[in-house]
Parts: sequence; C-alpha cells; structure tokens
Amino acid sequence: MRSDYMHWAKFKPPVRYSLTMSEVPHFRMDSLPISIADLDLDGASHPRYAPLRQAIARRYGVAVEQVVTADGTSMANFLAMAALIAPGDEVLIEHPAYELLLGAASFLGADIKRFERNPADAFRLDPAKLAQSISERTRLIVMTNLHNPSSALAGEEDLSAVGKLAADVGARVLVDEVYLDSALPPDQTAARLGPEFVVTNSLTKVYGLSGLRCGWILAEPELAERIWRLNDLFGVNQAHPAERLACVALEHIDDVIGENPELLARNREYWNSFVQSRTDLECMPSEQGITAFPRWSGGNTERLDALLRERYDAAVVPGRWFELAEHFRVGFGLPAPDFEEAVSRLGAALNELR
Ligand SMILES: Cc1ncc(COP(=O)(O)O)c(C=O)c1O
Repeated sequence: MRSDYMHWAKFKPPVRYSLTMSEVPHFRMDSLPISIADLDLDGASHPRYAPLRQAIARRYGVAVEQVVTADGTSMANFLAMAALIAPGDEVLIEHPAYELLLGAASFLGADIKRFERNPADAFRLDPAKLAQSISERTRLIVMTNLHNPSSALAGEEDLSAVGKLAADVGARVLVDEVYLDSALPPDQTAARLGPEFVVTNSLTKVYGLSGLRCGWILAEPELAERIWRLNDLFGVNQAHPAERLACVALEHIDDVIGENPELLARNREYWNSFVQSRTDLECMPSEQGITAFPRWSGGNTERLDALLRERYDAAVVPGRWFELAEHFRVGFGLPAPDFEEAVSRLGAALNELR
C-alpha cells in the first residue's frame, strides 16, 4: 500500500512557475516574537498538551474535549478513519477525491463506495445524489470542504442534510476542512453541526505552516477519547517544540494570515478572466479557496503538464491524480507576479497544443 500521488507531489522535478502548490506562501515564524524558552526543550513529553487544544477549541468554537491533535491533516484523517472503520465496513467517499482519503480507507480494509460531485454541477455537494448511494451498511461518509481539487464550498444546509442521512443509518461524516478557513470564519466548522460530524484540519494550507505538522480532529468527546487512545499505537505524543510553536502561531494568527486573503482574491480574479478568454477551458468562476480544477478540451492533461515542464519551466497537477484525466488543478498561492507569469505560460502551452 502506498500513495503514488504523494510520492509524485514530493519528488517531481522542481520548476520556477509551479501552479501545483495548494497552499499559501510559507510563513516564516522568525517574524513572530519567539524566544528559545518558548520551545521548552526540557526533554519532557506532554500528553494531550492542553494549551494547544485550548487554543484550537477557542478558535473553532468547540469544547476542549472535542479536540485531538495529530501530525497534520494527513494523520488526523488516518486516525479518524482508523477509529471509525473496521475491515469490511462500507465507506462512501466523494468522487473526484484526494487520493490519500481513498488510500487510508483502503488500507483499513473498507468496502469503498463512491458518490459523485458532478463537474457539470460545479462539483457541488448534492445530498440527493449522495442519498442514492448510502445504505444500511454505510459506516462513514468522507468528503472535503472546500472540495479538493475544485474548491466547491458545501453550505450548512447541504452538510446538515448529509448529517441527517448519516445519522439515520448510524454512520458518521468525516469532513476534511483543510481548505475551509480560506472561505469561512473558523467557527463555521461542520464540527458544530452535530455529533455525527468528525472534522479534520491543520495549519498547513491556509496558514502556510505545513512544516509545523500541526493538525487536529474535532469530534464528539467519546469518539475523541477513542482517537487519543488509538494514537498511543502511532505517534504517542506530538513533537513538543512544534506544539509550542503552534501555540505561538495561533496567538498571532492575524499576523500569520497577513495579506493572504487579498493575494488569493487577486489571483482568483486573474484566473477567472484568463478562463473566460479561453474556449478550450471549462471552469466554474473561482469564488473561494486555493485551487481550481478546469476541464481542458484537448484530452488527457498529462500532455499539458509534460509540455509545461519541458518548454515553459512551469507545471500543473494532471487530473489523473484526481480521477478525472481531462481536468488539471491549479493553485493560487504564488505571489501575484509569479502567478500571472505562470498563467501566461500555461496559456502559451495551451496554444501550442491547440
Ligand atoms: C484534502 C487534503 N487533506 C489533507 C492534506 C494534507 O494536509 P497536512 O499537510 O495538514 O497533512 C492535503 C494536502 O494536499 C489535502 O489536499
């Protein structure tokens, strides 16, 4: 078992104008008031480090007992699924999906079923469609909000409808919210919609702090306790200096966020006018988030990515990594001048392939 997508994402040759990144520019923590004492390197490990859990609980408007910390959203997703899935359990996962969600469920022996997020319907979360795939055997429904790769936003009404469908068959809903804070205030998390919701998130995508590996799960207290106990089999505790740094980051969260919302808005606007100018791309206007997932009329986008790399020192994520080969994913996290240059190179490559 392995993730070919993650391997590709980590080790693909670097290019100057990469549209593959799905996070805001990295934040340098040395711009915050940090002293060596903040790292508390006394050798102790701190089980369920309370100050970090309290800071997360405050920010997301949930009880401390609902917060489990984990190494990134990645481990948060794995732990949440491991606590909820036994081999043979039916798990309903969105399509198209972030590969690691499928990989984790498959590793745990789930019987994976899919529900569609239709490109023609702007990848909207459609509870009526989902209802057709749910069964008495469904134990878990898995989705991303914002949707990776399209950045479609699921509203409270649709999420609650899915929560009700899940509750009716005794299932839970895992919502990976790693991109959500770029669109809504943090207290809009699905974790507040009811005990059937289990939410994962981190300081990675929207905060530019992927290096901290500060992730978390928000779940009802009994499930949260089970996840803590399960984590004793894996990481046991987090790296404590990273927990301390995460507390500092959360204390200064407005500085961490900085101008990123303006940057993303500006790049999205530039992207939207680029898409409008092209007859070979179909893409809903980008209104939120850090990524978009257009469809190219030229076919398999591996060809596009290969040309971008070979001739334009640029790159996109080919759609095959998100189960739709004629699409590709672009990220809006580059500084604006680089983003505009990258998009112009994309336009030149598309013209060459016309
Ligand atoms: C939907 C989704 N979840 C989780 C992750 C990983 O996040 P983290 O760096 O917090 O582990 C990614 C990264 O691409 C992602 O797209």
